[in-house]
Amino acid sequence: MKVSALGRRVGLTFDDVLLVPGFSDIESRKDVSTKSRFSTNIELNVPIVSANMDAVTESAMAIAMARHGGLGVIHRFSTLEEEVAEVAKVKRSEGVVIEDPITLGPDATVGEAWEVIRSHDIGGIVMVDGQRRILGLVTRRDISLEDSPRRSLKEVMTPRRRLVAAPRGVSLEDATRLLRDNKIEKLPLVDGRGRLAGLITAKDIVKRRMFPLATKDSKGRLRVAAAVGVKGDYLKRAERLVEAGADALVVDIAHGHSAHAIETVRAMKRAFRGVDVVAGNVATARGAADLVKAGADAVKVGVGGGSVCVTRIVSGSGVPQLTAISDSRAGAGDVPVIGDGGIRSPGDVTKALAAGASTVMVGSLFAGTEESPGPTVLREGARFKMTRGMASLGASVDRLRREAGAGSPKMDELVGEAMEEAVPEGVGGLIPYRGRVDEVVTQLVGGLRSGMSYVGAHDVPELQRKAEFIRVTEAGRKESLPHDIKSVF
Ligand code: XMP
Repeated sequence: MKVSALGRRVGLTFDDVLLVPGFSDIESRKDVSTKSRFSTNIELNVPIVSANMDAVTESAMAIAMARHGGLGVIHRFSTLEEEVAEVAKVKRSEGVVIEDPITLGPDATVGEAWEVIRSHDIGGIVMVDGQRRILGLVTRRDISLEDSPRRSLKEVMTPRRRLVAAPRGVSLEDATRLLRDNKIEKLPLVDGRGRLAGLITAKDIVKRRMFPLATKDSKGRLRVAAAVGVKGDYLKRAERLVEAGADALVVDIAHGHSAHAIETVRAMKRAFRGVDVVAGNVATARGAADLVKAGADAVKVGVGGGSVCVTRIVSGSGVPQLTAISDSRAGAGDVPVIGDGGIRSPGDVTKALAAGASTVMVGSLFAGTEESPGPTVLREGARFKMTRGMASLGASVDRLRREAGAGSPKMDELVGEAMEEAVPEGVGGLIPYRGRVDEVVTQLVGGLRSGMSYVGAHDVPELQRKAEFIRVTEAGRKESLPHDIKSVF
């Protein structure tokens, strides 16, 4: 033990400090740019990402986050197939051109069409023959009043001869005009031989206009990141996630400053060119530097500061989050740092960015929103959703069950043994229902803009250059909260 160093350093977190207001020439908060980098090659208009927790990010959350300028990281606490399917749903959700539209063959029935429409959450299906030549189009509307699931789709589809189609490579303007003038929802694209070459939907064009800040890839599809571990099927999982279109892989383990994590980052960088590899979690300059040296395109920072974490209590290890961000930023150099965990209010976002984070990752605050997985529950007249730590007992038992496979005869025995030895580093519980995630993001971004204008920063790099923190005492903290009034509304 380095006795001489014992207690010499002080670790600070969000509530320990405030940002000192500085001269500002910003007239309106709208003039502030919140653009930032998630990783080497992924830029966000809104520097907020949703956490790879099973109570937070699956496709619905990732779609909403990307539409509003942030990003979602799909959790890995599912089977390989399930995680890949979530990524695919985000990539398919919208794009200028859906390059590989879902199709059905000539013998398909109404029942099969419903199945496909429901499972992929799409509005219609192109019917093709064995050579992928277009036969027709079936939409939800065509089959919504259909009584017989066995009826052939050929009888209800709009046949090719009555279908408006466009050549592959059609411009967005021409496609928009065709959709509008013909009052249609879907425009199949064809190649020179009449084969299906893509699909443009009116809905996607409308969404493009509705979400101007959306985080999109070069093909106009929403971006999404996906988490992987460092054991078991992780390499195969990564490969399949990349095939499904994941824009970044997040190598996510509790102690990211480890030989395992460093080796995994190296292996992923070797295997997957053109995909950003994010790694964590760390809480120190050395940790960040080692991951960057291994090739990480961003470093995820935070040990034990999350709302559902008990790592610091159980292990005695961790670094208060603002110090962890600032130290890690020093070690990461130009590589973006993601401040992961502990965000409770908009001011925390500003402080995290000012301390050196390029983006923040939010868990439980988003677990209470409409888009998080799981139902809303009613307790004593109020609405709640569930959240839980990924190292909580419940999550560990679920993981064991999944790994053992459904129906495994020794399941209860295995789970029982594991539970006896388990030392959970996370907890679970109810969290107040907070409405749609974009409403929460709007509050966070509004606070960030305000915080930046108090500092006099026009953009995130300027915020980091100009920020001056002042430590507050307990009395100062109390003064920051509403006080001396009867009720707050
Ligand atoms: P918030 O505060 O936004 O934090 O809910 C989200 C982050 O918390 C981390 N996390 C955990 N940390 N034990 C831990 O020590 C856990 O069981 C656990 N589950 C999640 C994770 O980094 C997440 O992004």
